[in-house]
Amino acid sequence: MVIDVLTLFPGMFQGVLSESILKIAREKGVLDVRLHNIRDYTEDKHRKVDDRPYGGGPGMVMSPQPVVDAVEAVRGDDPDAKLILLTPQGRVFDQKLARELAGEKRLILICGRYEGFDERILLLLKPMELSVGDYVLSGGEIPAMVVVDAVARLLPGALGDPESAAAESFQSGLLDFPQYTRPPEFRGLAVPEVLLSGNHAEIDKWRAQQALERTRQRRADLLDEPRNGGSHEQHR
Ligand SMILES: C[S@@+](CC[C@H](N)C(=O)[O-])C[C@H]1O[C@@H](n2cnc3c(N)ncnc32)[C@H](O)[C@@H]1O
Repeated sequence: MVIDVLTLFPGMFQGVLSESILKIAREKGVLDVRLHNIRDYTEDKHRKVDDRPYGGGPGMVMSPQPVVDAVEAVRGDDPDAKLILLTPQGRVFDQKLARELAGEKRLILICGRYEGFDERILLLLKPMELSVGDYVLSGGEIPAMVVVDAVARLLPGALGDPESAAAESFQSGLLDFPQYTRPPEFRGLAVPEVLLSGNHAEIDKWRAQQALERTRQRRADLLDEPRNGGSHEQHR
């Protein structure tokens, strides 16, 4: 998959892309992330990319020309490129959407700054508007990293063990079951006996029960909503 990121701060991505799963996915050729500096597309002689809001008020607004030109130059006439603009006013990102996006060939992520985008950027480009949650960050870079990471780990070949993504929280509509590793006892707390039993049918049963119980206790809303992969009514 190709992911183009349009940002005023491409340097922010270097650390995230060069460690762990994202590093490996890029080295394997599963993921190709291309960073583009929106400032390189401005026609302003002072390289400005923002201006004061019409009507007054605090802060600056991202100007339409550099953003629209950057998107058009990067997208070219690629019909497969899915355009996504990061904004707290968008559809809230979740595992279902991560799965949908992992099925795309190419994503173009547009990161805002300041007070956000001139509205004509949205009217002209008609991107999918995507939020990472009901809070306001200083820019779209961290939200873009969230999307890149969540999508990349779902790409075939990105994870060493493909089963690990399948078992994670939300993937089945439930939270993940509790995990334990060595030692068998730590500060008086023992690993549940069943996990040491070697009986895989019993282990699977225990994990399924734990995942359901944990979801019921912490996120009962997930049991009611089919959005993460199906209703769990039959387990209730
Ligand atoms: C300070 S915010 C602007 C917020 C805008 N004035 C509003 O209230 O909707 C600057 C940029 O950060 C990004 N951003 C901030 N919070 C976000 C969130 N929860 N999800 C996605 N992007 C976000 C967006 O790209 C946004 O244009």
